Amino acid sequence: MIHLGELLYTEDQNLFQKIAGKSGFEVLNEIPDMLEKFQSFLTFSTKRNSDIVCQGIDLKDNMKIVDVGGGSGGLAIDLAKKYPEKKFAVYEVEPVVPMTRKNIEKHGLTEQVEVIPGSFFEAIPAGFDCILLKHIVHDWPAHRATTILKNCRSVLNPGNRVLIVDTVFDRADKRYKRATLQDIYVFCYNNGKERTLDEFKEILGESGFRIESVTNAREDDIIEAIAI
Ligand SMILES: C[S@@+](CC[C@H](N)C(=O)[O-])C[C@H]1O[C@@H](n2cnc3c(N)ncnc32)[C@H](O)[C@@H]1O
Repeated sequence: MIHLGELLYTEDQNLFQKIAGKSGFEVLNEIPDMLEKFQSFLTFSTKRNSDIVCQGIDLKDNMKIVDVGGGSGGLAIDLAKKYPEKKFAVYEVEPVVPMTRKNIEKHGLTEQVEVIPGSFFEAIPAGFDCILLKHIVHDWPAHRATTILKNCRSVLNPGNRVLIVDTVFDRADKRYKRATLQDIYVFCYNNGKERTLDEFKEILGESGFRIESVTNAREDDIIEAIAI
């Protein structure tokens, strides 16, 4: 039997790793039916908060934006509609790409939103001046989140931005209970965690970013970090 508490003290071990020898996402990628259900759930949950997240995201003078781990493209599609003059890309693992392409086609946005296959642990595509990471950083423990952020930093110029959409964990916040449940969920899946502002500062600082602002977006927060 696996005891959740035992997992808390083992780096890079979680339920999926113990049972299948790989992370929750890697397991999902191998089961097409489950992957489709998971992405449909993400599309649904993204829609729920998308108006407020979209409203809170100010793309300023950024012209080429990549949504890293963008799922079936919900956020990129909404932002493409808000900013018709800007170009977008969704970067996703190969098994998810057909679902993302289909969704973007459905919205008639293939000219404005491209889909790029690949893994954020290997590299991030170059040529973008803003990177979105929605519900990505909280999926991973610090050393893996730092790998993603350092890969982001390596393709940005100083002054370019990453916009992280996650909940900033704060015991005094009324969203604390919900964030705690989410913390357990992401921990079981990939050894992820919800982070306090200080924890975000730490992993962002280590990866070559400084926090410029934090904007509340209902159950999420948008952390604007500048490449230094
Ligand atoms: C929690 S979901 C968030 C999806 C989307 N950003 C949203 O908010 O709806 C995490 C996403 O990361 C993607 N992902 C997992 N591992 C990845 C990797 N190594 N490279 C790129 N994307 C990855 C998954 O396929 C999934 O779509």
